Amino acid sequence: MGKALKIACVGGGPAGLYFSLLMKKQNPDHDITVYERNRPSDTFGWGVVFSDKTLENFADADPETKVEIINSFAHWDDIEVHFKGRMIRSGGHGFSGIRRHRLLEILQNRAAGLGVNLEYETEVESLDLLAGADLIIACDGLNSRIRADYAETFRPQIDLRTNKFVWLGTHQILDAFTFIFKETEWGWFQAHAYRFDNDTSTFIIETREDTWKKAGIDKMSQDEGIAFCEDMFADHLGGHALMSNAKHLRGNAIWINFPRVSNETWIKDNIVLMGDAAHTAHFSIGSGTKLAMEDAIALARHLDEARGGPLRDALLGYEEERKLEGIKIQSAARNSTEWFENVDRYAGFEPEQFTYSLLTRSQRVSHENLRLRDREYLEGVEKWFAKRATGKRQDTAVAPMFTPFSLRAMTLPNRVVVSPMATYSARGGLPADFHLVHLGGLAHGGAGLIFTEMTCVAADARITPHCAGLWNDAQERQWKRIVEYVHAASPARICLQIGHAGPKGSTKVPWEGTDEPLDDGNWPLIAASAVPWSEANQVPAPASRDDMDRVTAEFVATAARAEACGFDMIELHAAHGYLLSSFISPLTNNREDDYGGSLENRMRFPLEVFDAVREVWPDDKPVSIRISATDWYAGGLTPDDAVAIARLCKDRGVDLIDVSAGQTTTEAEPVYGRMFQTPFADRIRNEVGIATMAVGNIYEADHVNSIIMAGRADLAALARPHLADPCWTRHVAAELKYADQYWPVQYLSGRDQLMRNLERAEQMVQEI
Ligand SMILES: Cc1cc2nc3c(=O)[nH]c(=O)nc-3n(C[C@H](O)[C@H](O)[C@H](O)COP(=O)(O)OP(=O)(O)OC[C@H]3O[C@@H](n4cnc5c(N)ncnc54)[C@H](O)[C@@H]3O)c2cc1C
Ligand SMILES: Cc1cc2nc3c(=O)[nH]c(=O)nc-3n(C[C@H](O)[C@H](O)[C@H](O)COP(=O)(O)O)c2cc1C
Repeated sequence: MGKALKIACVGGGPAGLYFSLLMKKQNPDHDITVYERNRPSDTFGWGVVFSDKTLENFADADPETKVEIINSFAHWDDIEVHFKGRMIRSGGHGFSGIRRHRLLEILQNRAAGLGVNLEYETEVESLDLLAGADLIIACDGLNSRIRADYAETFRPQIDLRTNKFVWLGTHQILDAFTFIFKETEWGWFQAHAYRFDNDTSTFIIETREDTWKKAGIDKMSQDEGIAFCEDMFADHLGGHALMSNAKHLRGNAIWINFPRVSNETWIKDNIVLMGDAAHTAHFSIGSGTKLAMEDAIALARHLDEARGGPLRDALLGYEEERKLEGIKIQSAARNSTEWFENVDRYAGFEPEQFTYSLLTRSQRVSHENLRLRDREYLEGVEKWFAKRATGKRQDTAVAPMFTPFSLRAMTLPNRVVVSPMATYSARGGLPADFHLVHLGGLAHGGAGLIFTEMTCVAADARITPHCAGLWNDAQERQWKRIVEYVHAASPARICLQIGHAGPKGSTKVPWEGTDEPLDDGNWPLIAASAVPWSEANQVPAPASRDDMDRVTAEFVATAARAEACGFDMIELHAAHGYLLSSFISPLTNNREDDYGGSLENRMRFPLEVFDAVREVWPDDKPVSIRISATDWYAGGLTPDDAVAIARLCKDRGVDLIDVSAGQTTTEAEPVYGRMFQTPFADRIRNEVGIATMAVGNIYEADHVNSIIMAGRADLAALARPHLADPCWTRHVAAELKYADQYWPVQYLSGRDQLMRNLERAEQMVQEI
C-alpha cells in the first residue's frame, strides 16, 4: 500500500465516481473528495451501453459494483435494421444497457460506503480552492472547464461533426438494438434505439444539418421538434411518446453536433484529464461511459503499481496507455460517425447490403467476426450476394470474394486481383523469361485478374532502364506469349497497365537507389510543369503540344499492340506522380493553358489520352484508370477531388477506377492502416456510381470479403501479399473450404493434402 494521498475529483460522473471508489479500495487512508455541481439525482442522458467484454473489466476492478450493474441491466444480443420497409435482424452482438441514473446511483452508493467525500451542488470555479490536493482529476465532462483554463498545456482539438442529433427516451420496449432509417422529402433521418430497463429505451435521432434545417426543426420549439419526430417514427413507437429530460434547454438547443475531443497532453503538474474531458467517442459506437470508466481503472492501477514512487511516472504511464486506447476507439468511431453522416451514399443499396455495410462500418467487426456472431445471418447474406452476382439461386453460401464479376464482356472468376507491380527485370523494354514465370505463376495462384507492371509506351517513358515496355514487335511477341500462357493455364484474365513515367523517369532500379537519377545515360524528361520529383531529380520540361500529341500516339500504339497480344483489359496509369498524374495534381501542374488551373483543365490531357486509346481498343473489352485519390498533402488533391475526377472519367466511358493514393509528392503525409485507401474507393463507387477496385494494405481474406460484401469496391487488389505468396487465393480458398477454386490439374494432389491437413487441424482445435 503506497502513501496516502489527498485527491480531488472535479466532476461526479462515471469517471470521477468510479476512480474515487477504486482508489479508496486500494487505500482507505486516501482522502478523496468528489465535487459535483449538480444534485445526486440530476442527470442527462438515458441509457448507457456496455459490451460483455467491458463488463469483464469491471468485474476484475470491483466485483461489487459489477454485480449491482448486472442486476440492473437489460441484456440483448440482436441488432435490427429497418430500411426501405424491410427489417433485417442479426444476432450474437452481446450488449447490455443500464439507465445512466441507476449507474450513477450504484457508483455513488459504493463510493460513499467506502468513505469517499461526495460534495454535491459544489461547482469548482477555480482550482485555487484545491491547492492542498496531491492529485486533481479533471473529470468534468465534455465541456471541461479545467481543460479550457489550461488549454495552452492540454492543447485540445475539438472537431464539431456535421450531423445534428438529439438524445431522447421512450417507453416503447425494444428487444434488440434498433436502427431505423427514414427517407423524407428533406433527406434521411435515422434513429439509434435500445432498451436499458424494464420500461424505457434510449431513442437517439440523427440527421444531416441541412436536412434538419430544410425540415424546419431549427425554427421549432423543443416540444414541436419532439412531436415532429414522434410523427416520423410513429410506426416504431407503438403509441408511446418520445421524452426529453433536458426541459431546461430552450427550443432546438437539445439538438447538438457531436464534438470529437482529443488532447495533445493529458497532464499539467498534478492535474490529469479523465473521461469525456480527455476524449469523446461518437454515440453510434456506445463507448463514452465505457472509456471513462476504463480510464478510471487504468489510472488507479498505475497509481497502485507506482507504490508511493513519483506520481508523475504513474500519470505518464496512464496517459500513454489510455491515449492509445482512445485513438483506437476514436478511429473506429470516426468510420462509424462518417457512415452515419453519409447515409444517402448507401441509400441505393438493397437492405441486405445496407445492413452489412452498417454492421461493418467501423472496420472493427469483420466478415468472419459476423460469422462467429451469427452464422445463419451471414450465410444468408452470402447467398443473397452470390445470387446477385451470378443471377442464379444459391443453396450453399459462398464467400463474396469467390463470386464472379463482369466488366463489358470480360468476366472474372473471382474478385481477387494481383495489383500492378514493377519488377524492373526487362532489358530494352523486352519482357524476359522472368515475366513469363512470374505472371504465369500468379495465374496458377488463383486470382481472378492479373495486372502486369506499368508497361511503358516508349523508351523515354520508362522509370528505369529495366522497366517493361510495349512499343516494338519483339516486345509484342513476348507479351503475346505471356498472355497466351495465362489464358491456357488458368481462368484468370490479364490486364496490361500502360503508363509514362514523366517526372519520375530516368532513375535507378529501387535496389540500387530508389528514385535516384542514373549515374550516366539519363534521358530528358517531360511533365505537366517544370516540377522535379525531388531536388536530386532532373527538372522536367513542361510538355509542349507536340510532346502531348506524340505521347498520345504512343499510348494508342501500345493499346493496339495490347489487343494484338490478346490482353483482356488495359489500364491507364494516372496515379503516383507519373506523367498523367503530374497533370492531375495541383502540386505538380502550374500550367496556364487549357491543361492547367481547374480540375477539368488538369484532367483534359489524361482524358484525351483515354479517348484516343478507347478508339482503338475493342468495344467489348474494358479500360480502367488508376488514380491517386489524395495527395495526402495540404493544397493537393483531396478525396472530394477524387470523386469529381471519377465523375469525369465515368462520363467519358471509363469502366473502373483503380483507387490508389499518394506518391505524388515527397512531402506527403499518408495515414496508413489496414485497408487505408478503401474509404476512397467506397466514396467513389457509391457517390459516382462507377465500379472501383480498392488497394492498399488489404492482406486477409476477411478484408477482401468485407470490402466486396459491403459494396466498398467491386474488386480488391493485393500487391505485396502476392509477392509473399503467389498462390494467396488458392490458399485462402482452402481455408474457407471453397470447393470450386481453380487449381492447375498438375497440383491437385497438393490441394487434397492441404484440405485434409486443414480439416485435421480444425478437428484437433475442436477436441481441445
Ligand atoms: C447530452 C448527453 C447525453 C448523453 N447520454 C448518454 C447516454 O444516454 N448513454 C451513454 O452511454 N452516454 C451518454 N452520453 C455520453 C456519456 O455521458 C459520457 O461519455 C460519459 O458520461 C463520460 O463520463 P465522464 O465522467 O467523463 O463525464 P460526465 O458524465 O459528463 O460527468 C462530468 C460531471 O462533471 C460535472 N461538472 C462539470 N464541471 C464541473 C465543475 N466545474 N464543478 C463541479 N462539477 C462539474 C458535471 O455536472 C458532470 O456531472 C451523453 C452525453 C451527453 C453530452
Ligand atoms: C514492388 C512494387 C512495385 C509496384 N509497381 C507498381 C506499378 O508498376 N504500377 C502501379 O500502379 N503500382 C505499383 N505498385 C503499387 C501497388 O500496385 C499497390 O498499389 C501498393 O503496393 C499497395 O498495395 P499492397 O498494400 O497490397 O502492397 C507497386 C508496389 C510494389 C510493392
